[in-house]
Amino acid sequence: MNKLLALYEKVYGQSTKTKQAMTQLLDIISNAKSNRSNELKALDTHKNWYFQSDVVGMTLYIDLFSTDFKGLVSKIDYFKELGITLLHLMPLLKSRDGENDGGYAVEDYQDVNPQFGTLEDFKKTIKAFRDQQIYLCIDYVINHVAKEHAWAKKALAGDLEMQQMFIMYDTDEIPNRYNQTVPEVLPNKSPGNFTYYPEIKKYIFTSFSEFQWDLNFKNPYVFNGMVENMLYLANLGINIIRLDAIPFMWKELDTSCRNLPTIHLLIEMLNLIKDEVCPSVALLGEAIVEPHEIVKYFGSRIHTECEIMYNANLMVDIYNSFAARDTRLLAIDANLYHIPDTGTWMNYVRCHDDIGWGFNEKAIEEMGFNPYLHKQFLINFYSGNFDGSFASGENYQYNDITKDARTNGTLASLLGLDKALESSDSFQINTAINRINLAHSLILFYRGFPMIYSGDEIATKNDQSYLNDLSKKNEGRWVHRPFFDWHRAERRHIIGTIEYHVFDTLKNLIEIRKHQEFFDGRSIQYSIPLYDHALFCLARVYKEITYLGLFNFSEHSKTLYLDQLRQQLTTHKTFEDIITGKTIDINQSELIIAPYEYLWLKPITLKE
Ligand code: GLC
Repeated sequence: MNKLLALYEKVYGQSTKTKQAMTQLLDIISNAKSNRSNELKALDTHKNWYFQSDVVGMTLYIDLFSTDFKGLVSKIDYFKELGITLLHLMPLLKSRDGENDGGYAVEDYQDVNPQFGTLEDFKKTIKAFRDQQIYLCIDYVINHVAKEHAWAKKALAGDLEMQQMFIMYDTDEIPNRYNQTVPEVLPNKSPGNFTYYPEIKKYIFTSFSEFQWDLNFKNPYVFNGMVENMLYLANLGINIIRLDAIPFMWKELDTSCRNLPTIHLLIEMLNLIKDEVCPSVALLGEAIVEPHEIVKYFGSRIHTECEIMYNANLMVDIYNSFAARDTRLLAIDANLYHIPDTGTWMNYVRCHDDIGWGFNEKAIEEMGFNPYLHKQFLINFYSGNFDGSFASGENYQYNDITKDARTNGTLASLLGLDKALESSDSFQINTAINRINLAHSLILFYRGFPMIYSGDEIATKNDQSYLNDLSKKNEGRWVHRPFFDWHRAERRHIIGTIEYHVFDTLKNLIEIRKHQEFFDGRSIQYSIPLYDHALFCLARVYKEITYLGLFNFSEHSKTLYLDQLRQQLTTHKTFEDIITGKTIDINQSELIIAPYEYLWLKPITLKE
């Protein structure tokens, strides 16, 4: 606790006001400790569960997947069938009515959205999943609240103390200064960083939209209040708290207001607090920023921040490899970003958000490309505006002047299923399926745990029906957030269907992964450079034994000259592909890898 108090003083100073706030914080912590149930306290002894090979997640929207909490519980068998052991439930806390950014505008952190059921129903849901050994992760929107949140409503009614919970100014002088250096998050949908409220004659910091008010973390009572909410959720029995949009949590004039150093102190404090109250709970950080900034949110062994981070960079690198048939960026990045042994990645190939093409620019330059033009290539490729592109994604937040854009679309649509189906070309349909399976195989092999985006397991395509919904039609990201099609899901059992090929392959890969210790989140990994850039080789090292993943990102068969692997692998020469059972002898001169094929190689002597 001394460490926590020292950090608190570092952030908030040593004034009497800080002392009072600190007393309140200590009360919040001690109350939460005594409110934690014995059942949860028993779980707290198992702290590092998220490293286990059998952790395989799925992200879903409750209403789109199963209407409500009861419906969700009734689908437990579906998760079991696929092998899912962790669910990330998209925002479920009570959000404002009408437009609410998919629930990321929270009105009450201690209640749930009535459309899903009551708080009691939620508690029963948590228990039902715990009984089935399925972990739960929920969103904790920490950077901002809905303007209908109690603090915001009081602030809007003129309560001066509550106005201190937000960042607001009487004139536009300071807001204008901020606007000079702070980029807009959603320039088309929500231009500028401030909103003027005539009721109180104030300009309020609203990074994401007019109805999401940024919190003022310079006020210790904001920190305390958000700690209290976080611990409340942890004590309901949540296993992972997803800290939303953390790079925005601290603002300073004349900066970009992204990733500022104090945020790391705030997150470190959150980690110390949750370690004190609920040590088995893990913090998952969502920071979709430059790769070298993402890794900083792991902190270090001594200054732990988030145990888990979104591996946004891996997602971009995977799509880059498919479009360019060049895996060098993937290979460079796999060796570049080292994370402390307290941390692990959450690997995903699609999620509810758009894809921002933020990649390692230095590496792109080293590869001989111009970063701006390369980004343009990816934007155009994935919106289908590039000759020969297989993708059917859509541009998001397109900037007419710079031509910058992000990309929307489901995994299947981005990897070519729509175009293949339109042309009724069974070869192309198979190719698209193979790309989807390759993408899944890589996020299952990579250090960390995989998070499948609901619908991808049955190759769900883009869906335009959101355009008919008034609360969704202005937000292009709904194109990849469709209602789950249970009718189509039935086809996962019919051999020969697209749904079968994708679901069954993923299910097998999950099953294999679960039984292999070397997928433990602490086993290190590095890439082995190969002559053919379409091929990617990732080595995982566990208990001093090396395992290999091989991936072909092109539609052509490729020759892997095995001398490249022999140089690296001195202890074992014979491997088994644990997916197909094939034996691979690396003393041979070459190995042919089929289009979009992937192999998971385990040294054979281990079996003897
Ligand atoms: C995160 C969410 C995104 C949301 C934003 C604001 O980035 O993933 O969907 O719009 O935060 O809460």
